[in-house]
Amino acid sequence: MKYIWLDCDPGHDDATAILLAVHAPDIKLLGVSTSHGNAGATNTMNNAARCLHAFGAPDDIKIYPGAPKPLIRLLRHDPQIHGPDGLGGVEGLPSITHPEVAARIQKDINGQKSAHAIHGLADAIRDTWKDGEGHHVTIVATGPLTNIALFVSVYPDLVTGVDEIVFMGGGVGIGNRSAVAEFNILCDPEAAQIVLDVPVKKIMIPLNVTHTAILTREIHRKLLSPESPPTETNSPLPAAVTPLRHMLSTLVSFFAESYESTFGFTRGPPIHDALTVAYIFNPQLFGARRFRVDIELGGAHTAGETVVDIWNYKGCDDTWGRDGKNCIVTESLNVDRFFEFFLDCVKRCDQV
Ligand code: BDR
Ligand code: CA
Repeated sequence: MKYIWLDCDPGHDDATAILLAVHAPDIKLLGVSTSHGNAGATNTMNNAARCLHAFGAPDDIKIYPGAPKPLIRLLRHDPQIHGPDGLGGVEGLPSITHPEVAARIQKDINGQKSAHAIHGLADAIRDTWKDGEGHHVTIVATGPLTNIALFVSVYPDLVTGVDEIVFMGGGVGIGNRSAVAEFNILCDPEAAQIVLDVPVKKIMIPLNVTHTAILTREIHRKLLSPESPPTETNSPLPAAVTPLRHMLSTLVSFFAESYESTFGFTRGPPIHDALTVAYIFNPQLFGARRFRVDIELGGAHTAGETVVDIWNYKGCDDTWGRDGKNCIVTESLNVDRFFEFFLDCVKRCDQV
């Protein structure tokens, strides 16, 4: 069993990561924290609560709101990709006014410390790790890394209770929100460098890999109608069979349109964030190597770039210092098996 904490900024693909985190076999989701990112912090917090409810997560899985802004940089969101509230076009999600949805959100009443993302994560690690008598916690991050950077800075002693940090972010030579910077890293480059410097195993899932996880029309059709035989590529999509599948279908359709109009993706949208949970479920789905990774914190044209030392210019020692290889970078994905896993989790979710 893997015990995980999910830090996210939902976001269409974050929503798919939440679904997998709730329903993947042998994974126990301890809690969810949210940050600024695809939309403002209030929206991402509400969206996470709405998704947890829609996906039938146990009531004890709570949302811990985190950083509303990056450490240093100016705040940015991405309405072009995710709509103004972060989950544009998604039909069938419960409203945040629904009492059971609102009840998931941990509020900071009278300065009660466990309400904030970093304190919620600290409590989860203490309760799970039990000073070495219990289990490690894996941190999964699918948004800007602000909350995780704050956590490791405020609670360095608890890092021993962390097994690994798996994050979606960066690219090897490519970006999506500048020529070389990926959105999550670009939002808070300093936070990303702090996380890369932490002496714990890190796994980066960059654009080079997530861009292979395209949710094509064929997979969209399977999502809507899992038992129906394959049809012509351009035939109309069949009617959704359950409210969950209808909801996911509207999510995919909006995301597909964003990706086509913004980046010219014609086969479908890449569901970047879902790969983090797939990695935890089965790292063998990925090819990966260890490299030195740093973030470009200056740069007239390259701020937020993940600088991956593929030729090992920084030396080959394996320490956690500034020169050692500090990150496992995934390089490939078994796409068919990934989508099998994805559809299997949707099926489990449907049965709740
Ligand atoms: C990342 O940025 C957001 O658009 C997605 O949610 C994903 O986490 C991809 O660059
Ligand atoms: Ca995200």
